[in-house]
Amino acid sequence: MAIGWSSDLATGVEAIDNQHREIFNRVDRLSAACSEGKGKDEVLRLLLFLEGYVKEHFAAEERLQLRHAYPKYDAHKSQHARFITDLARLTGEFKAVGATLSLVIMANKTLTSWLVQHIAGTDTEFARYLREEAGA
Ligand SMILES: [Fe+2]
Repeated sequence: MAIGWSSDLATGVEAIDNQHREIFNRVDRLSAACSEGKGKDEVLRLLLFLEGYVKEHFAAEERLQLRHAYPKYDAHKSQHARFITDLARLTGEFKAVGATLSLVIMANKTLTSWLVQHIAGTDTEFARYLREEAGA
């Protein structure tokens, strides 16, 4: 399942939007590698890259939230932490059993629904706060 970036996912904060777009690209590449039956090594390489990239991106978002005294920082940070745990679990399962069909389907579902929900909901809410703060 390919998911694409669309403008309704934009937060309006350029640095964050660029990182979100890159995350979508990476998830797409991962999906493609799985559906094209690429080897376990390639899938793992993409998963590990995604894990690293997502961690850096979350840290950047959290720094921005702290700098702007975002009141929902703790709740937002715990969503990030949960996603990192989910990703680590997926990576562990890929390492153990390889890219089985059921795991690939689950990985796709987990990654896409999480990304869309978090970016369209939680991140957009933070972006609104930033804009209101800047206008205040
Ligand atoms: Fe976020």
